[in-house]
Amino acid sequence: MSKRVGVLTGGGDCPGLNAVIRAIVKTSKLEHGWEVIGIEDGFEGLLNDRTRPLGLADVSGILTMGGTILGTTNRGNPFKWRAIRDGKPVVYDASEETLEVIKDLGLDGLIVIGGDGTLSIANELHKRGAPIVAVPKTIDNDLAATEITFGFATARQTATEAIDKLHTTAESHHRVMIVEVMGRDAGWIALESGLAGGADAILIPEIPFRYEALIDMIERRREHGRHFSIVVVAEGAAPAGRRPVYQLSADETEPPRLGGIGMIVAEKLQMITKVETRCTVLGHIQRGGGPTPSDRLLATRFGVRAVELIAAGRLGLMVALRDGMIVDAPLAEAVEMQKLVDPEGELVQVARALGISVGDR
Ligand code: F6P
Repeated sequence: MSKRVGVLTGGGDCPGLNAVIRAIVKTSKLEHGWEVIGIEDGFEGLLNDRTRPLGLADVSGILTMGGTILGTTNRGNPFKWRAIRDGKPVVYDASEETLEVIKDLGLDGLIVIGGDGTLSIANELHKRGAPIVAVPKTIDNDLAATEITFGFATARQTATEAIDKLHTTAESHHRVMIVEVMGRDAGWIALESGLAGGADAILIPEIPFRYEALIDMIERRREHGRHFSIVVVAEGAAPAGRRPVYQLSADETEPPRLGGIGMIVAEKLQMITKVETRCTVLGHIQRGGGPTPSDRLLATRFGVRAVELIAAGRLGLMVALRDGMIVDAPLAEAVEMQKLVDPEGELVQVARALGISVGDR
């Protein structure tokens, strides 16, 4: 039976989104002969009537491309929809309108590709009857329902390459280099790129840090003739007893924006140790560029499975990776739990075993 499938990407972009879109279109067309409707800029496209048919030609050559050909936004929440009424900005619940549009488009399935924010919206829409199948994405790798999200490997690679480059200049100038990486409340990018890049200290949100521990590390290295140090700081890391640093606080429609801890750490360390210290904030570079082969592969496997779930009439599920296999989990469960670094876990122990400071002692 022919079907009509919608696809949208929501929240922050990440490498691999186009690979999922390509897999969805190819599988829908080649395996099933279905129609695919691309929805632009997440849920915004549904409410603003920005949809377009996607054919094989539209996805040709996009496997290797970063970003998303459909566009995305982290502001388009239909439950907190921003509009102008009588010349004034208002925020209202537009979920009923959204469900109507999904019905009017005649969608048998709507594949929502997103992180925890987008997937929570998808879950609420599913509970109200939308025929949703979800695909998880995020460079932060912070979704408990899946072992790994695509985008993470590429971000980790970008961060590791940056650490490698900073090493040589840090050594030449006898400086401390602070590298601030993304990850929100999870330290995965910092911990794994820090380990892969041979950092001297790695500060993550899950382990409150003490400046004394970093100063000890810098001084110990100096005593051993190592006059430079690399400190990787996750944007959500904070000194013990302090709150993380935000560039922007949350408002009704947008999550808070972390950032700035790197510069604070740099200033404090330079003031106390008198060692020249610089800070590099990697920012959105971590979200850009083409996906690594492992991200392309995972995104492609997720896309194919999402289509197969719709073919089997199995809705309200999220695809996931467990024990190396593609599985599915109820969307409601999948959005519930964040995956954070275990402060006692193996990766932190590996860091400690190598003498890398995680800032706590
Ligand atoms: O969730 C992905 C992410 O890149 C986080 O690591 C970061 O905190 C946030 O998004 C940045 O969001 P924005 O693109 O709105 O600046």
